[in-house]
This record gives sequence, C-alpha cells and structure tokens, in this order.
Amino acid sequence: MTIWNGSVGLVTGLWPEVRTGFKRAVAYICGPEVMIKAAMRDLFFLGMPDEKIITTLESHMKCGVGKCGHCYAGPKYICTDGPVFSYREIKNHSMLIP
Ligand code: FES
Repeated sequence: MTIWNGSVGLVTGLWPEVRTGFKRAVAYICGPEVMIKAAMRDLFFLGMPDEKIITTLESHMKCGVGKCGHCYAGPKYICTDGPVFSYREIKNHSMLIP
C-alpha cells in the first residue's frame, strides 16, 4: 500500500509551501470552476504574470466547431478561441472567468 506523503488540502491553502518564484513559474489550472477562479486570482496577486496563468474553459462547449453559439462568452468562442486561455485573455471578461 502506497501512502501519500505530500501536501493535502485546497490548493489555495498550499501557496505558503510552494518553493519557487511565482514570477518565473507557469501554472496550468483545471478543476472545479470555483477553485480555478480562486487559484487564478491568488497566483496573480502572488506575482505570477497573467500570461503564465493558464486554464481551460471547456465546460461551456456544445457543438465544438463555432456554429451553434452556445459557448460564446464575452468576446470569445470557447470552442474555437480556446478552450485553453491565459488569465490575461479572460481576466477583464466576467463571462469568461469561471
Ligand atoms: S460550442 Fe458551439 S459555437 Fe462553440
């Protein structure tokens, strides 16, 4: 039986344990929307450049080819413009922030 010896808990509660410079790092975030939103906000305020905070917004897709308009949010079609976006691309568009 393998026992996990690493950190456990909400990712937003683990920032003090991170041993890297936030300004030089890149974050790829996936998970529940509320966690994505909190993690992106925290990383930005910890000094990570907004273009280096990356997430996916794939949950809003339906046709996936830019035809149905179901995924249109703000200035972007999630399916054809994404589904991967940087925080820089979405931070000023409340419809895109999970
Ligand atoms: S999912 Fe239909 S336009 Fe994007």
